Amino acid sequence: MNANQGRSPAMQHFASDNYAGICPEALAALLAANDGHVRSYGDDEWTLRVADRLRELFETDCDVYFVFNGTAANSLALAALCQPYHSVICHQLAHVDTDECGAPQFFSNGATLLAVAGEQGKLTPEAIVEVVTRRSDIHYPKPKVVTLTQATEVGTVYRPDELRAIADTARAHGLRVHMDGARFANAVAGLGLSPAEVSWRAGVDVLCFGGTKMGLPVGEAVVFFDRKLSDDFSYRCKQAGQLASKMRFLSAPWLGILENGAWLRHAAHANAMARRLAAGLAEGTGLPALFPVQANGVFVRLPGRIEAGLRARGWLFYNFIAAGGARFMCGWDTAPETVDRLLADIRELAAESA
Ligand SMILES: Cc1ncc(COP(=O)(O)O)c(C=O)c1O
Repeated sequence: MNANQGRSPAMQHFASDNYAGICPEALAALLAANDGHVRSYGDDEWTLRVADRLRELFETDCDVYFVFNGTAANSLALAALCQPYHSVICHQLAHVDTDECGAPQFFSNGATLLAVAGEQGKLTPEAIVEVVTRRSDIHYPKPKVVTLTQATEVGTVYRPDELRAIADTARAHGLRVHMDGARFANAVAGLGLSPAEVSWRAGVDVLCFGGTKMGLPVGEAVVFFDRKLSDDFSYRCKQAGQLASKMRFLSAPWLGILENGAWLRHAAHANAMARRLAAGLAEGTGLPALFPVQANGVFVRLPGRIEAGLRARGWLFYNFIAAGGARFMCGWDTAPETVDRLLADIRELAAESA
């Protein structure tokens, strides 16, 4: 792939997969949509076509809505699944709990998030049972939803059997299953399975399918596999300021990446760059990844002088405090040369401080 052609690899960073620009397929579709006058608020041909395309992709008759970002997608989807007196079980590293500024609670008018621990960023059936059976009295917010992040916040991926076990447990206790799929594409690419197998066939009721990190300019799709749950969802979007009047510019880029499997190719490329980075770290510096690298993120505990040295050399990346390490995210356009340059810098800094 030569998506990086004409750009200096020096301009690339590992802080987030949303540091990357728009992928060529999405950009072409965006420009193609910029033609003439069309109906607004989602009644345009582009939006209708993308929704159909997503139904084909997922091999089921789902309801599809487009919103501007992941926080809105998650919050509004969760709000659709619960009443204010309900609670949502999530992992303690879940973006909905740690990085959405209380938006799920706000948009659900007060539902509570119950965060639980779990290895490798994953929830387990046992942890869910523990929360659900902890209390049944009127003074405790009634558990109603389980939310999973796929791929997880630490770059691991739930296998379909893990999802199914969680969904079965959820069903047995009257809970719905929501999936934060900001990096759903990376998970699908990593597992090598169909989108259906990693979502509704494994028991997911609602998926927030991330577009931004896949290479779109902006926007996520909220996909209701259980269509009864999407009643009045457009009103929620409108009230939350998430109903785009020029919806075609949110939806059309999806068409670009869904055609010819570009979404999956880009995700697979980002995953491959993460594996390249992890392999280079382990071989060249003896710094092991903190979590299995199953998607597009690598977490590593960097000695202080290496971390400071990298920052002094201009590299941008986050310290992921909750997981206890530095986080390096790869995007659809991360060049192998960028990974190699980072590795060379780490090796140099390691040698200097040895
Ligand atoms: C796991 C996860 N969910 C959702 C999001 C989407 O958040 P935003 O509201 O910034 O689009 C992100 C973005 O970093 C994320 O990492």
